[in-house]
Amino acid sequence: MPYTMEDFQRDYIKEHLNVLTPDEVLQRFSADKLLKGLSAEECLRGISVEERLKDLPMEEIEAYLKEQENRKQSERLFNLAKKYIPGGVNSPVRAFGAVGGNPIFIKGGSGSRVIDMDDREYIDYVCSWGPLILGHAHPEVISAVTEAAKRGTTFGAPTEREIELARLITEAFPSIDLVRMVNSGTEAVMSAIRLARAYTQRNRIIKFEGCYHGHSDSLLVKAGSGAATLGLPDSPGIPPSLTQYTYNLPYNNLAAAKEVIEIHHADIAAVIVEPVAGNMGVIPPMAGFLEGLRELTEKHGILLIFDEIITGFRVTYGGVQTLFDINPDLTCLGKIIGGGFPVGAYGGRGEIMEMIAPSGPVYQAGTLSGNPVAMAAGIATLKILSDKEIYQRLEKTTGLLTRGLSENIKQLSIPAVINQIGSMFSLFFTDGEVRDYASAKTADTKRYARYFRQMLKQGIYLPPSQFETVFVSTAHSETDIERTVQAGFTSLKE
Ligand SMILES: Cc1ncc(COP(=O)(O)O)c(C=O)c1O
Repeated sequence: MPYTMEDFQRDYIKEHLNVLTPDEVLQRFSADKLLKGLSAEECLRGISVEERLKDLPMEEIEAYLKEQENRKQSERLFNLAKKYIPGGVNSPVRAFGAVGGNPIFIKGGSGSRVIDMDDREYIDYVCSWGPLILGHAHPEVISAVTEAAKRGTTFGAPTEREIELARLITEAFPSIDLVRMVNSGTEAVMSAIRLARAYTQRNRIIKFEGCYHGHSDSLLVKAGSGAATLGLPDSPGIPPSLTQYTYNLPYNNLAAAKEVIEIHHADIAAVIVEPVAGNMGVIPPMAGFLEGLRELTEKHGILLIFDEIITGFRVTYGGVQTLFDINPDLTCLGKIIGGGFPVGAYGGRGEIMEMIAPSGPVYQAGTLSGNPVAMAAGIATLKILSDKEIYQRLEKTTGLLTRGLSENIKQLSIPAVINQIGSMFSLFFTDGEVRDYASAKTADTKRYARYFRQMLKQGIYLPPSQFETVFVSTAHSETDIERTVQAGFTSLKE
């Protein structure tokens, strides 16, 4: 079907309403001349196609139509997907809701690049949300996976590879004696919480605002009205009786944790934390925060759970806990340990882990847990990462990128800050320090949306949300970084 002016008008307006303020929309359409005193939405509803288009500069229409032409296949597939899949995607952030426009559909990936269904190439900084630390289709990972698949993809019976991956994990994490494989991060955290409750025979947990631990009921929680009030469901479908056991406290605020623990410790089973937060953009822990949590939890017989699903094998071989030399009681892993396949894991002190069935009474199981293809991908990935120089190289490449972007920000006098640790970072469009959810939320998300879209046009695929992490892989080259910094300059000027 030809792409008509009507289509153009509909899409243009839809997209720009997402990324521009109503005032900016008004300005673009010069609608104030025509419809004084009405809101942008009222103007857009009330004026005809001709009226809307006549005030748009021709170059803008042409550039927009060209862009649409470049996304034809992705648009076609997204429309088709919506017929069969809720919202057209299998995980919400993929729908580009936070940045406007429709998602690009990916045909394939190699190294640092992905190609979309319209054959446009992008330098990829999403890296499947973290797992692909070696880039796309790393030859050694693909070869290990192919070899495993040829011998059968799942048996529902133990295989040798499960021991090998468990060995690599326990050797990398001094706090992990035993580890259980599951199929996703959500499952790992949900199981670790169950185990902590069983071990301590207590019910309540503490999490931190802006940290994401998967979508299980007791963790999909928003804060109640005061620090010491219990959480409220953050999605319909979660009974308040489940979230009433969860406190949602400000990140990096040891005093708030102390206050709640001192009052309620007798019924607190666990404190769970992303030791470097990655789900409100990157926020490193402030000096003393993690150490303080360790001290408080130990004192009161509460289990400390580090959710290292992003940070495990990302910030170093091992996780944040090896960098900071803190031993949590339990650790949740995922992403990188699956080498691009669906894997999660939880592990910790032997005495606690022995409570899991069949050693102990805490039930947890999985049809595909520890399946040989995922194990093969994880083992191949960790073996490559065990060369510790890799982390120095990753840090160097990432530093090159963040320094370049900082320079852009400075030259253009844009209020923005970059938080980085190892090969993960976020650029927040705000001028103050970003140290918790409240300060992250001061970021200008509309500006991020514009930046994202300009970068995408220039072949740079960033996370489609201000509050996500940019991931750099070993496949990103200095040329990739130079191109990204240049594209960043142009995009920030827009
Ligand atoms: C820190 C953290 N924990 C848990 C999860 C949930 O993992 P999954 O998406 O594999 O269920 C994520 C996902 O991004 C995460 O970043």
